[in-house]
Amino acid sequence: MSNFDLLVRNGTVATASDTFAADVAVKDGRIVALGEDLGTGANEIDATGKLVLPGGVEGHCHIEQISSSRVMTADDFYSGTVSAVFGGTTTVIPFAAQQRGASLRQTVEDYHACAGPKAVIDYGFHLIISDPSDQVIGQELPALIKDGYTSFKVYMTYDDLRLDDYQMLEVLSAARRDGAMVMVHAENHDMIRWLSQKLLDGGHWQPQYHAVSHSRAGEGEAAHRAIALSRLMDQPILVVHVSSQEAMDEIRLAQDKGLKIFAETCPQYLFLTAQDLEKDGMDGAMFCCSPPPRDANDQEAMWRGLANGTFSVFSSDHAPYRYDESGKLAAGPQPTFKQIANGVPGIELRLPLLFSEGVGKGRIDLNRFVALTATNVAKLYGLHPQKGTIAVGSDADMAIWDPDLEQTIEHAMLHDNVGYTPYAGIKLKGWPTTVVSRGKVVVSDKTLHAERGDGKFLPRACSPAAEPLNRLEPEMDPARNFGADLLGR
Ligand code: URP
Ligand code: ZN
Ligand code: ZN
Repeated sequence: MSNFDLLVRNGTVATASDTFAADVAVKDGRIVALGEDLGTGANEIDATGKLVLPGGVEGHCHIEQISSSRVMTADDFYSGTVSAVFGGTTTVIPFAAQQRGASLRQTVEDYHACAGPKAVIDYGFHLIISDPSDQVIGQELPALIKDGYTSFKVYMTYDDLRLDDYQMLEVLSAARRDGAMVMVHAENHDMIRWLSQKLLDGGHWQPQYHAVSHSRAGEGEAAHRAIALSRLMDQPILVVHVSSQEAMDEIRLAQDKGLKIFAETCPQYLFLTAQDLEKDGMDGAMFCCSPPPRDANDQEAMWRGLANGTFSVFSSDHAPYRYDESGKLAAGPQPTFKQIANGVPGIELRLPLLFSEGVGKGRIDLNRFVALTATNVAKLYGLHPQKGTIAVGSDADMAIWDPDLEQTIEHAMLHDNVGYTPYAGIKLKGWPTTVVSRGKVVVSDKTLHAERGDGKFLPRACSPAAEPLNRLEPEMDPARNFGADLLGR
């Protein structure tokens, strides 16, 4: 008679802090022991020569969401979560996106109706707040935070989503009151608007001008302003999808002053550049996202920020649109850069890209990889220690990696519904080969063993970085210490 449901033997386990040889024993979906000679499992995996890592936690992805240009993402909660899990991710936190005038509660219910029957791995929801009415701020948000929607995203640009500074303060104040984390899309709206208009007036409509219209200056200015608003309110923020050294420098400066500013970057800012938007014909549309990819100097800056702790999390910002009339070309075969849905896919390749080119090339170590892709994400969004680590009592969510497996990326190997990958042709070393979700093997031998609806909704606690108790006098503020710890400094 086995003592465990699952035993992962002979692997090298890595967490955000340590790397050690241990067997991992699982019962009733949770890790119950780490050690040697633990006994037997009803199911056993031999992980000799393999790495046993926490399943990735994806903190930024758009699934079954309508874009600001009114285009539906190519992935629904089935294909999006299947794609995630094949890439070693076992938890996703996509968005429930409010349309202006809509109730936030109804929005959340609508997303639940989509996700519940389809998700194959566990999921939570961030809220996108596009209409911070008195009802939303005063009634809906406090109730939703209590129900486990403890983070929301606000936009400083996009006509249908953007908040002005006054509205941003209203949202920050509501977050402060109830201990939520605020994610900020930081780009200067009027700079984009003005540049776009002048480019179009001059006949510059092709995809490459998307990158020109979303300037580094506009990203840096908005990051600076968001930080000032956060500082005024003493409310932590997380600046999402940072693409440029200019924005990163603003964030680093604020962190060095002790402000609770967290930051995220994404694969597109490490592996793509603005030149990709110059590809033949409309092909550049496949690389249009906001902020846009920049250049080699900015890529190096992003790598530095991942290594030195400026960035706490590494997310895909998976925003998948097919390169056809259902997606990138929804406005016609030759849309202007303003009419192209913004976003690139990346939920499946997020971890392999960072593992191969980060850990494999010595830019970050394995523990930092785990922190950036799983542990810090779970901590920031109130899921730790249930998710994001390998520890007794945590959910048995694990990705078993073959660190020597080499494969060249092609879209055919992926499981999304996008039809292309911006990363085609890159040869990566190190891939997840077996994935475990709450103790069940959900991927092995390139095969899915999960059913639609196996994923469970995760109500989330307040982020320890944002909980109201942390808002004391600065010199006795425990959030400072938490922040320093999370930032790895
Ligand atoms: O271009 C992007 N990033 N599209 C997705 C929406 C967002 O702003 O994150
Ligand atoms: Zn954004
Ligand atoms: Zn996004």
